[in-house]
Amino acid sequence: MDNRVEECAERCHRGDLGELVRSAAAAALAAGRIIRGLYEKPHLIRHKGEIDLVTEADVAAEQLIFAILGQRHPGVAIIGEEASQGRAGRPAGPAWVVDPLDGTTNFAHGFPWFAVSIGYVENCLPVAGVIYHPMLDELFCAASGAGAWLNGRPIQVSRTADLASSLTATGFPYSIRTESAEVMAGFEAVVTRCQGVRRAGAAALDLAYVACGRLDGFWEIGLKPWDTAAGQILLTEAGGRLSDYCGNRFSPFFPELIASNTLIHQELVALLSPLHRQGG
Ligand code: IPD
Ligand code: CA
Ligand code: CA
Repeated sequence: MDNRVEECAERCHRGDLGELVRSAAAAALAAGRIIRGLYEKPHLIRHKGEIDLVTEADVAAEQLIFAILGQRHPGVAIIGEEASQGRAGRPAGPAWVVDPLDGTTNFAHGFPWFAVSIGYVENCLPVAGVIYHPMLDELFCAASGAGAWLNGRPIQVSRTADLASSLTATGFPYSIRTESAEVMAGFEAVVTRCQGVRRAGAAALDLAYVACGRLDGFWEIGLKPWDTAAGQILLTEAGGRLSDYCGNRFSPFFPELIASNTLIHQELVALLSPLHRQGG
């Protein structure tokens, strides 16, 4: 049995929350095994949009996650990226929010940087989440009040106090071909003021990396709830902050995000708020 999730699960004040984290971890690890197994094989690639891909691994991983979560928590809604065909409504009750393979473009090209992301939301607010990097075998998990954990060890955001000394990350939405001006304006504003910007191609990992202090901040537009639900609870529990470009409270059902170690948040808001859009 994989007990990396136990430190987190045992600290949950609500017993059901502990069980939810265990289930999310079991599903993410199982999906990760499938993805790892398919990584070096030829892929079945389909286009969902001009540059937005789906592979056999996205579909197989999502089906397995649905089966595991459905069996362990019958009746709880599951919003999965592939099953919902990219359209995510706000769930009325508790729900799983699943990205079976975050970083599909990387996977399809053999670039070993992708993750499984599983969040659990109540009233649209994430209260538990797991992000698993199958190629590095790194399991991030968190639950409300139970802290943030990486492979059974507690994690915290960095203490980098200013943007000039920060390593940040961003991502480019699939709408980049039609929205490049806004994306590049944000990129230019930040890249010219921080120590470096990484664009590795998996938003869930960007958030996990801010949570464990390997990155100091992250921003992107056009995100979907499955990109950010697990990352939101992970980063919150690790002492970080999430907001829209103006510094308002973030929701995974809102596409515009600044995430940080808290200390550099205001500097990012100052640079990105002119690009804020009503409704993301
Ligand atoms: C994408 C990745 C990427 C981000 C995109 C996401 P997918 O998710 O997280 O880093 O820039 O906005 O859609 O399609 O690989 O699951
Ligand atoms: Ca994604
Ligand atoms: Ca995905």
